[in-house]
Amino acid sequence: MNIAILGTGKMGAAIAGGLARQPEGRWRLTLTNTTGQLPASLRAFPLPCARDNAAAVRDADIVILAVLPQQYPAVLADIRPAVRDGACLISIAPGYTLEQLTSLTEGRLQVIRAMPNTPALIGEGMIAVCRGAAVTDAAFDSAVAVLSVLGRTETVTEAQLNAVIGISGSAPAYVYMFVDALADAGVLGGLHRDQAVRMAAQMLYGSAALLRESGKSPAELREMVCSPAGTTIEAVASLENSAFRGSVISAARAAMDKARQMSG
Ligand SMILES: NC(=O)c1ccc[n+]([C@@H]2O[C@H](COP(=O)([O-])OP(=O)(O)OC[C@H]3O[C@@H](n4cnc5c(N)ncnc54)[C@H](OP(=O)(O)O)[C@@H]3O)[C@@H](O)[C@H]2O)c1
Repeated sequence: MNIAILGTGKMGAAIAGGLARQPEGRWRLTLTNTTGQLPASLRAFPLPCARDNAAAVRDADIVILAVLPQQYPAVLADIRPAVRDGACLISIAPGYTLEQLTSLTEGRLQVIRAMPNTPALIGEGMIAVCRGAAVTDAAFDSAVAVLSVLGRTETVTEAQLNAVIGISGSAPAYVYMFVDALADAGVLGGLHRDQAVRMAAQMLYGSAALLRESGKSPAELREMVCSPAGTTIEAVASLENSAFRGSVISAARAAMDKARQMSG
């Protein structure tokens, strides 16, 4: 299968690196960017990288648009005359709907939207995927297999994609703010900052793994930490007084609203 990855920034390089590490022969990759030079993170792999988007997509079964949304019109205009009918186009940007992408490619391509997040850079991302009406099961399965190198995938409808942006695409930023605040608290309590960050990161990693592997709900796991008249319930009561949950919901809703505005 031939895959063209247009853009080798953070996301394009993460996808290319993930695919390049897979067993040999499964995927043939062609990359493009504005310089035609492989980024440093991919220099270990003998991948072709050029500036010519049209040439890169000519034999492609899958084209991954890993450029910024503002670069979409120019890059789609580049590839339109060259890409073969029925090829699969994967867009990972907010702001362009399946309908807009289908129209910009004159209805000739099978269009899929995916929404990754930054943990995808280490293969631990959450990638929500939604398919256009013309996408065959085989093309969708191939696209999901490709995106799986970035982490776990979930299939959603396009109407749900904005919610995904609020609780997964943008959410690593909220989590890092939370860790940063915990580190401040650790410093307040007498810990060195780097040690406090390491402890908070491991707490987060372990809590996420426990949530994923125990099958228990977040509420059940929270109750497990809260002994009667103990320290944790004091902290939980303080968070409730500061409208912690309401603040998180408002933040996620703000990201969803912005995503909705960006898609017109
Ligand atoms: N970063 C995230 O957390 C995240 C999360 C979800 C979705 N996304 C989406 O993923 C997409 C890529 O984001 P990113 O963070 O990877 O962006 P980025 O790091 O800024 O990378 C953009 C890439 O596009 C290349 N480029 C620009 N114009 C081009 C052209 N005409 N032809 C070919 N390549 C061109 C750039 O080339 P040079 O390297 O030569 O400059 C660069 O490699 C965006 O649509 C973004 O919304 C990102």
